[in-house]
Amino acid sequence: MQYDLIAPTAFGLEAVTARELTRLGFADVHTEDGRVYFKGDEKGVAKANLWLRTAARVQIQLARFKAVTFEELFQGVYAIPWGDWLPENARFPMDGRSVKSTLFSISDCQAIAKKAVVEKLKKTYHRDFFEETGALYRLEVSLLKDTVTVTLDTTGAGLHKRGYRKIAGEAPLKETMAAALIDLTFWRPGRILVDPMCGTGTIPIEAALIAENRAPGLTRSFPAEEWPAFAKAFAEAREEAKSLIQPAKEITIFGSDIDAKAADVSATCARLAGVEGAVRFQRADMRTFKSEERYGFILTNPPYGERLGQEEEVQKIYRDMGSVFRKLDTWSVYVITAHPEFEKLYGKKAEKRRKLFNGRIPCQYYQYPGPKPPRPPKNED
Ligand SMILES: C[S@@+](CC[C@H](N)C(=O)[O-])C[C@H]1O[C@@H](n2cnc3c(N)ncnc32)[C@H](O)[C@@H]1O
Repeated sequence: MQYDLIAPTAFGLEAVTARELTRLGFADVHTEDGRVYFKGDEKGVAKANLWLRTAARVQIQLARFKAVTFEELFQGVYAIPWGDWLPENARFPMDGRSVKSTLFSISDCQAIAKKAVVEKLKKTYHRDFFEETGALYRLEVSLLKDTVTVTLDTTGAGLHKRGYRKIAGEAPLKETMAAALIDLTFWRPGRILVDPMCGTGTIPIEAALIAENRAPGLTRSFPAEEWPAFAKAFAEAREEAKSLIQPAKEITIFGSDIDAKAADVSATCARLAGVEGAVRFQRADMRTFKSEERYGFILTNPPYGERLGQEEEVQKIYRDMGSVFRKLDTWSVYVITAHPEFEKLYGKKAEKRRKLFNGRIPCQYYQYPGPKPPRPPKNED
């Protein structure tokens, strides 16, 4: 069956997620604030969950209609063929959202939508009470300017939870954001990538997953895998994803941090992600960084002063980043930070900037792309 699917994503990343979906072969991809719409069948749902690196989750859109009264809301939800979706023992919590709508009480909208589902199921299954002890079918009724969208979540814990991070760092970047930052560079697998302030290693690990063509969802599970209509599609998509892994031939991705624990934590995460053969971590002060390599990439998320460290210290780090990285004349440098004075302290204006949110913190992504490497000489025989 073909479904209308929605991939919510962080504000500012809609185009990145849309590009990812198109690359994965999905049709009818279009974006709206914080959401990407696309279409797909059961296999598509499985593939999107397993492969999407930058989206927050994958939802099935069950209905979309106008409602300005609770009766219209009730009837719209009741009209959905719930018996086709929910087995008799399904657990179906109902989340709610309301923005700029006549029906503004979220708890009332949730309660009415839930009642509409229960009333329909009573008719379908000829019973009065549902114990909700089976598989999870998380629903959401969301109102935006009086348009109701009813969705079924297929993902569970957000897609940033890849399953490889068991130990929380002090200020880790979301995995989905790290993957998006990488996507916004010209880096390609096989080329050098370094995060010299890597913390728990999110950026190098996400790069290594890309380098080895590993589906980021392979190390976790999804509620939709338990649904009878989707179980086979998930099993097939998992097998396919496993067969597509291309182990790295050499290590070209590196992470380092001044904190003694960071390298160990990062290496453990890399092992859990299955990418220990593609990435190496060590303890080092960013100020000592040098490289014989040319045309490499630095992608880093330094302290901001807001969450970690002191203002003065942060300013010194940015000045030192400038003097160390600007010497690497063939390298590309990408930095995400919330600090308003970054460019001034670093000593160079970025060629491009992009506004992004790291969690709730508004940040800028400063981009200093380096020169293109010369093409390798053609084989002349
Ligand atoms: C915002 S955190 C990075 C978080 C990381 N992106 C993650 O996902 O876990 C900044 C990191 O910079 C490191 N750091 C601060 N000064 C440093 C220096 N001089 N050299 C190397 N690392 C440094 C801190 O130890 C901290 O782990």
